Amino acid sequence: MTTFLGLDLGTSSLKAILTDEHDALLAEHSVPLTVSRPHDGWSEQDPRAWEGAAEAAIAAVAAQADCSTLAGIGLSGHMHGATLLGRDGAPLRPCMMWNDTRAEAQAAHMDADPRFRAVTGNIVFPGFTAPKVDWVRENEPRVFDQIDKVLLPKDYLRFWLTGQAVSEMSDAAGTSWLDTGARDWSDDLLSACRLSRGQMPALAEGSDVTGRLRADLARRWGLPQVPVAGGAGDNAAAAIGAGVVKDGQAFLSLGTSGVLFAANAGYRPDPASAVHAFCHALPETWHQMGVILAATDALEWLSRLTGRSAADLTAGLGDLRAPGRVLFLPYLGGERTPHNDAHIRGQFLHLDHATDATEAARAVLEGVACAFVDNRDALAATGTRISRALALGGGSRSAYWLDLLASALGVPLDVPEAGDYGAALGAARLGRMAATGAGPEIATPPPIARTHEPDPAMAAPLAEVQARYRTAYHRLKDL
Ligand code: XUL
Repeated sequence: MTTFLGLDLGTSSLKAILTDEHDALLAEHSVPLTVSRPHDGWSEQDPRAWEGAAEAAIAAVAAQADCSTLAGIGLSGHMHGATLLGRDGAPLRPCMMWNDTRAEAQAAHMDADPRFRAVTGNIVFPGFTAPKVDWVRENEPRVFDQIDKVLLPKDYLRFWLTGQAVSEMSDAAGTSWLDTGARDWSDDLLSACRLSRGQMPALAEGSDVTGRLRADLARRWGLPQVPVAGGAGDNAAAAIGAGVVKDGQAFLSLGTSGVLFAANAGYRPDPASAVHAFCHALPETWHQMGVILAATDALEWLSRLTGRSAADLTAGLGDLRAPGRVLFLPYLGGERTPHNDAHIRGQFLHLDHATDATEAARAVLEGVACAFVDNRDALAATGTRISRALALGGGSRSAYWLDLLASALGVPLDVPEAGDYGAALGAARLGRMAATGAGPEIATPPPIARTHEPDPAMAAPLAEVQARYRTAYHRLKDL
């Protein structure tokens, strides 16, 4: 037997899993992480905390299962973070994360330069890496002057694990510096940001070997010095874990962020739609996705406000109901697709004396469903039609939410059988590809436990709430 380690650096936890060549889950462990929000729109994590979390997660996995047969490691992580290293390889400041919107002015300035959309195939969103580094140049010039390398979050973990500064295409596509069609850094865009290729990591494909586990760490953890694969940004990694690799395959992810992800036969940019067009984690493949900044994050917010857990808030909802009059817009930290609006904030509308926590929770789920419908339409505007999707992420434990989403989107949502078919499995599979030379054939879809079908009786009331939701955004955005 050979085994593979998948590490997924999530926003709220770092997860390690150990699998075998049949994808059987031999061990898993998650270590919580916190996000610091010192100012409105800021979102930061300390890269040193990722090292501590990875160390603890690997130790826990090694205690649960025999790791002597470990053959490869794969990495996945939240995308777009700016992790700035000095010449000594140490972080110069906390990582500015994917949902950090402080660099709005810098993003707008870069986005007005037509080269960025033309070369990267994407809007320059405030949460992408380049505008955040530009914010540092303007606001923390001493830090900017010391930048030796700009790494994405999971690539910082690779640097620590192997000593190699390498990224891979799926994550690099979210920086605003990659020529997404050519799968290479754009010297032109880097120099527009007063940076150079030398400050970027080398580029690999997700299934390539990018280095080997450092001898001292291997000794400390009692592991062989195995190869570390390129891995992928968390969404492309989840797609590898869920077998979403061919044109027509899609997933909907209810994580901290919400993602509607479609694999594409080729490179399909359409920046005007605010849809992301990125490299997939396998050579010569691409994907599109719409991204909602707060999905389960919106429910977590309500949970903090009410003092009731998200599970408790959603447990009593019963069968799917037509939406009430309470309307929630989940824009707690601005929105990406379809608005590209860093200013908009969450809204609760039409509250009355009878509005209780349960009704508020239902409105939150409905608001996120409306945001997904906007994403489906943004993808459709590029010619990408989704006819069914896998449901992934922590929020997919709520049957009510999936019934609602299936009806709102008008597509069946398939729920995988118990198991982990997300980014950590995708990372482990990429580790296996790098270590064994296996190809895309091992990125198989999971067995399906059940399917949530659209309820035709809900189509009209959900269309009505969608219209109110859109009107509310347009009326409130400048208020
Ligand atoms: C994708 C995105 C998020 C993060 C965090 O563009 O910003 O999905 O990767 O999970």
